[in-house]
Amino acid sequence: MSLRILHFSDVHLPVPPGAYRPPDILHPKRLLAALNYALRRGSKYADALQKLNGLNDFLRREPVDYILYTGDTLNFGLQREYTVAAPRLAETLALARQGALTVPGNHDLYTRASLALYHKYFSFPAAHSDLPEAATPTGYPRVRWMGEEVVAIAFNSARPNFNFWNSSGRVPARELDALGQLLNRPEIATRRHIFLMTHYPFDEAGRLHGLRNARALLRLLAGRENLVLLHGHNHRPSTYFLPESSTPIYCAGSLSKVNAEAFWLFELFGDTLNARRGTWRNARFCLAD
Ligand SMILES: [Fe+2]
Ligand SMILES: [Fe+2]
Repeated sequence: MSLRILHFSDVHLPVPPGAYRPPDILHPKRLLAALNYALRRGSKYADALQKLNGLNDFLRREPVDYILYTGDTLNFGLQREYTVAAPRLAETLALARQGALTVPGNHDLYTRASLALYHKYFSFPAAHSDLPEAATPTGYPRVRWMGEEVVAIAFNSARPNFNFWNSSGRVPARELDALGQLLNRPEIATRRHIFLMTHYPFDEAGRLHGLRNARALLRLLAGRENLVLLHGHNHRPSTYFLPESSTPIYCAGSLSKVNAEAFWLFELFGDTLNARRGTWRNARFCLAD
């Protein structure tokens, strides 16, 4: 029996009509971001809902056991974006046969008000934690047991940034501590594979776009040989290794970016972890050769 796990990210659903209402529109970060969105960003993701529906079709054709989603569903974290996106995302996550796990992206937590909206609208039954007592008040880290030999742990690295030029992330210190404790628990440490997922890449590349406390995170992960790291944020699907280590890292890219649509499908056969990339061809998702 193999275990099938799908990882996707960065859907960036279009901003619904009427999403902007005062005082939302007066937030300086949103004004500039809206201008940027109108000028160039929106068109690359205009068909994001079609891509999400395409993913649903794929999941119905080729069901998976678990879905891991690394955030950036929205653009500005507005209430109307949340109410429109919530049932869409819930539908996709519910297609996993066993369960799902999700983390927010920086575009979901665009301003301070967005965090409460995230918890209100994106608390999907399919994505609750199997170990809720291990979570800090942020609601993370979350744990998903995946059979006897595999586990997924989600931690949050996204946060609101007031200045529009700053889209950096940070793992809260308490969450980092909680993550370290989780990784040391015997029932987790002894698993064959530990999928560790967050929105930001596991490095600090670019102080204004990367993970500010990446070094502390990497110290925590050093020397552990059963990790598989998953992230989004970069909108370019890729696979690489942690420096000086055999720990693989997968960036899911963006599900919906025109001409770069992507996801990862992991299949586990005993010890072997097989990763295949999903790609958009002839208006449907399929697996790359
Ligand atoms: Fe994104
Ligand atoms: Fe992002």
